[in-house]
Amino acid sequence: MLDQKTIDLVKSTVPVLEKHGEQITTRFYQLMFGNHPELLNIFNHANQKQGKQQRALASAVYAAAMYIDNLEAILPVVQQIAHKHRSLGIKPEHYPIVGKHLLLAIKDVLGDAATDEIIDAWAKAYGIIADAFISVEAEMYDEAAKQKGGWDGFRNFIVDRKVEESDVITSFYLVPEDQKEIAHFIPGQYISIKLEIEGEKFTHIRQYSLSDAPGKEYYRISVKREAGTANPDGRVSNYLHDEVKEGDVLKVSAPAGDFVLDTTKNTPIALLSGGVGITPMLSMLKTVVEMQPERKVTFIHAAANGNVHALRNEVEALTALEQVNSFFFYDSPTEEDRQNNSFDVEGYVTRDWIEENVTYKDAEFYFCGPVPFMKSVNRSLKDLGVAEDNIHFEFFGPKGSLV
Ligand SMILES: Cc1cc2nc3c(=O)[nH]c(=O)nc-3n(C[C@H](O)[C@H](O)[C@H](O)COP(=O)(O)OP(=O)(O)OC[C@H]3O[C@@H](n4cnc5c(N)ncnc54)[C@H](O)[C@@H]3O)c2cc1C
Ligand code: HEM
Repeated sequence: MLDQKTIDLVKSTVPVLEKHGEQITTRFYQLMFGNHPELLNIFNHANQKQGKQQRALASAVYAAAMYIDNLEAILPVVQQIAHKHRSLGIKPEHYPIVGKHLLLAIKDVLGDAATDEIIDAWAKAYGIIADAFISVEAEMYDEAAKQKGGWDGFRNFIVDRKVEESDVITSFYLVPEDQKEIAHFIPGQYISIKLEIEGEKFTHIRQYSLSDAPGKEYYRISVKREAGTANPDGRVSNYLHDEVKEGDVLKVSAPAGDFVLDTTKNTPIALLSGGVGITPMLSMLKTVVEMQPERKVTFIHAAANGNVHALRNEVEALTALEQVNSFFFYDSPTEEDRQNNSFDVEGYVTRDWIEENVTYKDAEFYFCGPVPFMKSVNRSLKDLGVAEDNIHFEFFGPKGSLV
């Protein structure tokens, strides 16, 4: 436990650090990667370049510091980050490295304002925060390894099938090389893939949501090719599309993540997705249909047009069921889409449309997609008075950077 003086000092300096937050975390990463270049094997370089990881780490450290005398209150946030850490293979021995460089960065950026007393208080606070993460993660490592079909770290999976789902999205069916059982997952969860690209110094790790229902002998991921316009092309997605063939081996973590379908409830459910955000939503749709045939489900998918609309057939196969209602939104339909009547609504999903077409009172909402889509859906649901507890979303990037 920390003494009251230390707690007060840490809390009183949070606003100052918050003000310099990104400067501190940017400096932190420079210092840490300078001394520990091996950590570039686990961090996402594109997130670093865009400052996303810096924002995520900064907001998490400050949130934790504000609750330093009541970390229980932010346990859900700790768990969500810990899921990501577990899937990446972050271990207790990594924490002192982060702590040391965070304090060095605070000193560097704040100069004389960072007195010995302040640094000492933050060192103690970081120790407490790190311990909280380490203990939550220890349980998760244990559970991932000990569950039926589970494993520790990364396991070799063979690409059994590679299926083009649209102009930009391709699915990969992954089966374990050892041909043994694979762990169950909850719809909405993701796996991490670790790639060693020949000729490259560092490995790349990325997360992909599982896009089929659980209980199969394979995991399926569906990956969008991230083409950079002004920026470089996405490294891993393009490599998977262009270089990885059926029969190749990929290193895969056990499933992780706290964005999960709650099948204990039987209230109506709405699943909304934009673009490749369809992956966790389709897994949820298939599961609701399998496990809760009485539960009403509205499935809403937004895509630019039919050329980039993935996994359409799998959704359509389920819309014949009475419990399922589905709507496709295209914002830029092609002539062919119009001729084939292949969409229900032209344009974006709006608050008014949801109000008129979705049973939203007491419904559970799950959504995933590009940032503008997610912000707009979130705002619409709040406007409609949907309770915070009934709103669940997944963001395909570092959570705290979603501002
Ligand atoms: C929980 C979770 C689930 C996910 N599920 C899925 C899924 O089901 N399907 C899916 O396709 N994706 C999913 N993702 C996203 C996925 O993990 C990757 O982020 C995505 O595939 C892009 O990776 P990449 O290596 O191709 O791109 P990166 O190389 O990581 O680049 C990402 C973006 O940054 C840009 N960029 C690269 N370098 C720079 C630079 N120097 N300066 C500025 N910009 C730059 C690129 O153009 C690109 O747009 C998920 C992510 C998370 C966190
Ligand atoms: C108390 C200390 C720490 C805090 C508060 C913290 C916080 C965070 C947060 C908020 C994220 C983003 C989560 C998300 O994507 O949803 C994250 C991701 C990550 N963390 Fe930590 N972290 C800590 C310690 C560590 C340590 C010790 C390491 C390893 C050296 C580490 C490595 C990573 C990596 C590699 C990612 C993913 C980065 C990416 O995909 O861009 N973290 N962490």
